Amino acid sequence: MTTQPDYWNQIYQVEGRPGWDMDGATPLVHELLDLALPLGLRPGGDLVVPGCGYGHDAAEWESLGFSVTGLDFAPLAIQGAMSRYGSRVAWSQGDWFTTMLGPWDAIFDHTCFVAMDPVRRPAYVDACAEHLRTGGLWMGVLFHDVKGQSGPPHAIPMAEMRILAEARFDVLHLAEAKGSHPRRAGREFQMVARKRT
Ligand SMILES: C[S@@+](CC[C@H](N)C(=O)[O-])C[C@H]1O[C@@H](n2cnc3c(N)ncnc32)[C@H](O)[C@@H]1O
Repeated sequence: MTTQPDYWNQIYQVEGRPGWDMDGATPLVHELLDLALPLGLRPGGDLVVPGCGYGHDAAEWESLGFSVTGLDFAPLAIQGAMSRYGSRVAWSQGDWFTTMLGPWDAIFDHTCFVAMDPVRRPAYVDACAEHLRTGGLWMGVLFHDVKGQSGPPHAIPMAEMRILAEARFDVLHLAEAKGSHPRRAGREFQMVARKRT
C-alpha cells in the first residue's frame, strides 16, 4: 500500500538506490527558482520538500539560501538524507497529510504528488494549502507521461492538474519543463501556484 511508510521503506531497504533517485538534485530546482522569484518567492524564506527521499533537492534549496525542511515518512529516506547532507536541512520523519510542522512560505514538490494514489489527490492539494502561509507558493515538478507504467509514479495531464490545484490555489505558471534530467526529458511539467486566502 503506497499510503504506508513500510511500502516505501522496503524499497529503500531492498534497492539501496531506488530507480527514482537521481543521485543529485533535479536541474529543475534552478528553473523553478527563476520562474518563482518574479512570482513572489522570497529568498531566505522557509521551504519544505515533502517526500524528500535522500534529500538532494532539499539540500540544493538550502544552498540557494532557503531555510529548508526535508520531510519523508520512510525512516530509511530520512537516514539517507542525514548521512548525505548532515544538519544543514531540518530533516523530519513524518506524513505530509498529518505533519504539525510548518506553516511554510513555499513547497517544492518533486515526485511526491505523483507518488500518491490518484484518489488522494484532492486531499493532497488540501494538505499543501494547510501547510502554507497565505500567499505561499507550491512549486511542483510533475509527470504527464510515465511511459505506460501502472504507477507509482502516476501521470497527470496538465489540464487536470490545473483544475485540482485551483480548488485552493491560483495557478501562476503551468508549462512543459525545459531542462529536465535526460532520463525524464519531454515527460515533465512544472507548476507554480499561490495559496489563496
Ligand atoms: C518516488 S519517491 C521520491 C523521493 C524524492 N523526492 C526523489 O525525487 O528522490 C517518493 C517519496 O515520497 C515519500 N512519501 C510518500 N508518501 C508520503 C507521505 N504521505 N508523507 C511523506 N512522505 C511520503 C516516500 O517515502 C518516498 O521517499
